[in-house]
Order: sequence, then structure tokens, then C-alpha cells
Amino acid sequence: MRQLSGDRIGLGWRPELAGSIMAHLDEIDALEVIAESWIDAPAHELRGLKSLARTVPLAVHGVSLGLASTHAVDRRRLDRMARLVGAVEPEIWSEHLAFVRAGGLEIGHMAMPPLCADTIEGTLDNLDRAVRVVGAAPAMENIASLVVPPCSTLHEGDWTGAICSAVALPLLLDLHNLYANAVNSGSDPFAYLARFPLEQVRWIHLSGGRWIDEPGSNGARRRLLDDHLHDVPDPVFVLLTEVARRAPSKLTVIIERDGNYPAFDRILAELRWARTAVAAGRRAALEALQAAA
Ligand SMILES: [Fe+2]
Repeated sequence: MRQLSGDRIGLGWRPELAGSIMAHLDEIDALEVIAESWIDAPAHELRGLKSLARTVPLAVHGVSLGLASTHAVDRRRLDRMARLVGAVEPEIWSEHLAFVRAGGLEIGHMAMPPLCADTIEGTLDNLDRAVRVVGAAPAMENIASLVVPPCSTLHEGDWTGAICSAVALPLLLDLHNLYANAVNSGSDPFAYLARFPLEQVRWIHLSGGRWIDEPGSNGARRRLLDDHLHDVPDPVFVLLTEVARRAPSKLTVIIERDGNYPAFDRILAELRWARTAVAAGRRAALEALQAAA
């Protein structure tokens, strides 16, 4: 059953899940598609996606612009994103606070830049370029990292806040990425979360990962790898309740699953648990307000 509060619970669109998603749209409030999966799609497929966007709130989610960099974003990539966003007319488009290339080298995946003043300035320059080309500001997502990048001088939450608040940017807060970064840096996840600009959060990602041994520790220490191949762990639902308790804006929660798909009933159960977690946070916020009145 859909929630009436305005908070929305949805799912990342994947071809393997398409049939089940369409069969259960009454339980899915929003969808998110990966931009790069559609960027070269023929016109008739884009018309289909635009039609879907008119049925269900839709986000177009980029993974390869590399905006969080002191290098200027590739103009051709921005042009292609602008064409896709123009063709589909999603509710939002989004990207990551990550770099994916530098010095002429393609890394092949997203990486966290050094958390410092230089990368704040570079990211803001790239965001300015992106807004001018695409015509709308992206929601920006925090990424997962196994290590704190060398040469970092700022906490990730402060670095993210400096970028989002400078241009009133919506934050797409990935709670599994946040949880992984907290435990990987030996931090308490709630204290880690408190450093983020929760007043900027509009969208949320939930996903799962797996523990890996820290190299050289002979199994004594572990790190959490965000792989989107596993169920959403309980602590991430607890963090979701905390965000719903503290964030002032309506939230759209998207569960990301990129493979190792369980039965769709299990995914529907995760959607329900997310709904319950958000409702618990909103209820706690309301009770606190009433107690203070
Ligand atoms: Fe994410």
C-alpha cells in the first residue's frame, strides 16, 4: 500500500526486474534508471521511458560524469546527459560525488576524491557547467569508499555539506555508502550521519554489500564493500529511521540491487521495511514536537 505522507519508496529499474516491477507498480512509488543504460537508446525506447516517467516519478541516475574532480567535466558527456534528460523529462537527474578519470586515465569505476578545499572548488565548477548544459541541478550522491582518500583534510559529511549548501543542491544520501564509510573509518554510524547536511536530503539509496578482509590483517580486520548484490542490512534501516526523524523534506527512498537477485517477494519485503522505517522516524519527530509544545 502506498504511503500517504508524501514520502515515497521505490526501486532501481533493472532489465532483470522489469516484468516484476510493472506487475507491482501499486507497491512502488518511484523508479530510478541508470543514465548510461539509456544514453544511446533508440528514440522509440526513449519514448517508452518518457511514458514510464509520466506514470511513476522517475530519476535518471548518472554514474560516469565524474563531477567531483579538479578536472573539468567532459562537455560531450554533459551534452549526452542533457539529451537524455530532455528526451525523458524525469523528475530529477542525479550523479555521484566521485571522479572516474584523471590525467587522461579512465579508472573504470567511481572513486572518492581527496576530501579537501580544492575538490570542493573543482566540484562546484563542474556543477556549474552541468547546470548550464543540462538545464537543471543534479541531486548529488555520496559514494562508498574502502579508505579515506589520501590528502583528505575534511570529514566526508562536512565536505558534502560544503558542496550542497554552496548551491542549495539536493542531496541523494546513500545510507549503505554512508554506513560502509563509517565502519571502514572506525566511526560510529550515527555520529558519522550527524555530520551530513540532512536538511538537504531529498532522495535516499538503500543497498547491501559484503565484508572483506582488510589486506595484511590476516582476517583480524574487515571492511565493508558496497556491491549492491546483497540484502539491505538492518543497521541501514535503522539509519533510515534516523534520517526520517531529522530530515525536514519529503524523502524518496530507492532500493538499489544490481545482481544476485532474490525472489521479487523479498524485494517487496524490503520496500515494506523501508516504508516502516521511514514511518517510524516521522512518528518520532511528530512525538518530539508534541512533547515540546
Ligand atoms: Fe547509491
